[in-house]
Amino acid sequence: MAPRVLISDKLSDAAVQIFKDRGIDVDFQPDLGKDKDKLLEVIGQYDGLAIRSATKVTEKIIAAADNLKVIGRAGIGVDNVDIPEASRKGIIVMNTPFGNMITTAEHAIAMMFAVARQIPEASASTHAGKWEKSKFMGVELTGKTLGVIGAGNIGGIVCTRGVGLRMKVVAYDPFLSDDRAAELGVEKVELEDLLKRADFITLHVPLTDQTKNILSKENIAKTKKGVRIINCARGGLVDEAALAEALKDGHVAGAAFDVFAEEPAKENPLFNLPNVVCTPHLGAATSEAQENVALQVAEQMSDYLLTGA
Ligand code: MLT
Repeated sequence: MAPRVLISDKLSDAAVQIFKDRGIDVDFQPDLGKDKDKLLEVIGQYDGLAIRSATKVTEKIIAAADNLKVIGRAGIGVDNVDIPEASRKGIIVMNTPFGNMITTAEHAIAMMFAVARQIPEASASTHAGKWEKSKFMGVELTGKTLGVIGAGNIGGIVCTRGVGLRMKVVAYDPFLSDDRAAELGVEKVELEDLLKRADFITLHVPLTDQTKNILSKENIAKTKKGVRIINCARGGLVDEAALAEALKDGHVAGAAFDVFAEEPAKENPLFNLPNVVCTPHLGAATSEAQENVALQVAEQMSDYLLTGA
């Protein structure tokens, strides 16, 4: 009998087609992930579960997943899957670490420009017919120091884009080799050094026990006055309340956030502060990236279900 896969989040049609072409019996139910009870009821029928971020694969779901062999996350972060529980049950959890890295890096760069030139506020003001030409004084990026926290797949691309913008790029990443730093054209530094020197700080690390609140109140206080902070990685990396205070007292000049400690973010200490640019976790939201991650997850899951590889 053909393996059965449930797609419980919005995923490009290309993924459905690949599963079909590979002989997998696929059920595309893009809203099911939001309905925990329904998911719990049906999960036992499937060998594979393909998700994005809306489906929460909790301990309870895993306990009911009697036939599940693989969970495929079309995207990078697997924080919506209880990995220890899945591993205990012998269920493989796979992600697609490369499909959306360019798109996410580009979003971080777009956010950096947006906060440097106050583009969202200037746009809203112009739409309102105010023509406030003298209100929106920005800063140039050229010659500024960009501090990149995490120089992996996405952070590495941000580094090269920063270099291309003629910024001086300093990177903090315990896993960054000297050779790789040289290849990226960046200076490898310790976190303390980065905090002191950077005019712009951008985060590109996953949320772990080690990185949670990496920009804590204490670390924010160590940053250069007038710094601008960009987070397109994960909510929880920055102490949002402390950042809001630092923005209000003028130590931090601006912030651009795509991710929040609590999502969906309906309320947040950063909301409605001047020169804070916010987007609703759009880091991976381009048609190219969504196509890439959908294709990759479908191929990888099919390989695993059909050949065990
Ligand atoms: C990811 O982890 O791939 C990104 O944050 C995108 C997403 O969750 O939609």
